[in-house]
Amino acid sequence: MKNIVILISGRGSNMQAIVEAQIPGARIAAVISNRPGAAGLAWAAERGVPTATLDHKAFASREAFDVALAELIDGYAPDLVVLAGFMRILTPDFTRRYEGRMLNIHPSLLPAFTGLHTHQRAIDMGCKVAGCTVHFVTADLDHGPIVAQGVVPVQDDDSEDTLAARVLKIEHQMYPEAVRRFVAGELAIVDGRVKGRAQDATQWLISPSLN
Ligand code: GAR
Repeated sequence: MKNIVILISGRGSNMQAIVEAQIPGARIAAVISNRPGAAGLAWAAERGVPTATLDHKAFASREAFDVALAELIDGYAPDLVVLAGFMRILTPDFTRRYEGRMLNIHPSLLPAFTGLHTHQRAIDMGCKVAGCTVHFVTADLDHGPIVAQGVVPVQDDDSEDTLAARVLKIEHQMYPEAVRRFVAGELAIVDGRVKGRAQDATQWLISPSLN
C-alpha cells in the first residue's frame, strides 16, 4: 500500500475526486489543511479519512511553518504528497524533501500563467484554449516536470468563473489518473521530463472550430 497525504486550503474538490477514485494500492493517509475552516476537511472527516490542520498564521515565518508541516506530513509516512488547491508558496527545503514524490495541479497550461488568477489572465490575453497541468513540484514555483495536461476551449462570453468550471471538470478526471499512475509506478522522470503514454496523435483541439 502506498500512503498518500493530500494538502488542501479550501473546498478540496480535487481531493474529493482522488478519494472517490479508490485508487488500487493507495491509502489516503491524511488530508491536511493550512486553513482551519477549509470545507474539504469536513468532507474528508465524514468519510473516515484522518484530517489535520496546521494554521500558517500561527508561525512567524514561512520556513518555520514548512518545517512543522513536514513533521506533520512525515508522521503519516507518505509515499506521495498531493497538493490539491494548497495555496502556499513552499520553501526550497520543503520541496527538496519531497522531490520526485510530490504532485501539484495548476489551473493553466504551464509554463503559461504561473501564479494566481490564471483564468482571467488567459481571457485577458485572448487565449482560445486554456486548461490545467499536473506536475511534480520543484523549488521553482509551478515549473516542475509535467505529468499531464488537459485542454478546453475559451469562449467569447467566458467569465473567470465559467472558464474555471470548464477546466475544473477535467482537473477531476486528470488528477486521480495521475495519482493512479504514480502509485502504479508508471511515472518516471528522465532528464527532467516525465515520459508520456501513447496518445492518439490524430486527435486535436482547434478553437475556434474549423468550418
Ligand atoms: C483548482 O482549480 C486547482 O487547480 C487550483 O485551485 C483549485 C482548487 O480547487 N490550484 C491552484 O491554483 C494552485 N496554484 P479545489 O480545492 O476544489 O480542488
